[in-house]
Amino acid sequence: YDISSIKSFVESNGLSTIPSNYHSLIDPLDREVADELGAFIPVIDFSFLTSDDPQFHGKGVQELGRACEEWGLFMVKNHGIQESLIEDVMKMSYKFHDMPVEEKSEFADKGVSTPIRCGTSFSPKVESVHYWRDYLKVMTHPEFNFPHKPAGYKELAFEYSRKTRAVVRKLLEGIAESLGLQPNAIIESTGFDSGLQIFAVNLYPPCPQPDLALGMPPHSDHGLLTLLTQNGIGGLQVNHKGKWVNVNPLPHTLIVNTGDQLEVVSNGRYRSVLHRAMLNNKDTRISLVTVNGPAFEKVIGPAPELLEKEEPFFRSMNYKEYFEIQQKTSFADKSGMNQIRI
Ligand code: SIN
Ligand code: FE2
Repeated sequence: YDISSIKSFVESNGLSTIPSNYHSLIDPLDREVADELGAFIPVIDFSFLTSDDPQFHGKGVQELGRACEEWGLFMVKNHGIQESLIEDVMKMSYKFHDMPVEEKSEFADKGVSTPIRCGTSFSPKVESVHYWRDYLKVMTHPEFNFPHKPAGYKELAFEYSRKTRAVVRKLLEGIAESLGLQPNAIIESTGFDSGLQIFAVNLYPPCPQPDLALGMPPHSDHGLLTLLTQNGIGGLQVNHKGKWVNVNPLPHTLIVNTGDQLEVVSNGRYRSVLHRAMLNNKDTRISLVTVNGPAFEKVIGPAPELLEKEEPFFRSMNYKEYFEIQQKTSFADKSGMNQIRI
């Protein structure tokens, strides 16, 4: 098959089984879930972090540090991003993916440095196993790019991208404090204010054999922090101490996870977390994911303040170079990190 959209492939074929090149969960062990751990996924109250009261603020920072250290994934409540904005971006995202393939062909993926690209799976031309998702990936910072259709999408995406970056910025201040650094230490050293943001809009159509395929394989994200919202349909799993756990976000929360560059900056204290996307056979799932990283030209290494007491676990590298290495390693596990570990 030549599939450029799994959504349109599913809709035009009425499948009861999936093509064999989508089989990726052959081993039943890979599907095992430790659901009893889901209730322990940390919930961070954003209003504690923004509080002027030193006691509240200190508690927020402490809980944030613990969440990064123990889970690498947490929910954020009271974040201040309007529900209606998230819902509107969600609706437009569905409309985008629902456009005929020809309408989207001008955005067809031409490589990782292209600011706007859409496609299916990861690298359908080179990979041997495909993944059951369509994506739109856009570089929304330092320059804001976005598709000009459907009408109104770009304006909503601009708001969403700006607001998610503001939440991430505040979290990075709290995380710096939790490491014993000045609040602005990570923002300054990574050039965050001119940093990369990639906005990924994933759509996972219902899959007739959801236990055989994956929406996205286990991977860690390349940036500092990733922020995720979804259309109420579950599918994200986080790897916690070797076990897979379903992430079922509480209403009105954002999901945040740690990325490779935070692992580097924290000198391994806050490890980037492995996660993957599972499928179901009933509902279309959409996730809105912003990956927020350093400025491309910045050389990123462990924070110098931390190296007064410990040896570096990573060699310093320009973020753009790391990004390109990580994208080439086909997302599998944390192979990007293996290239910079000392
Ligand atoms: C991602 O890891 O980028 C997306 C995972 C998801 O869709 O839940
Ligand atoms: Fe991810």
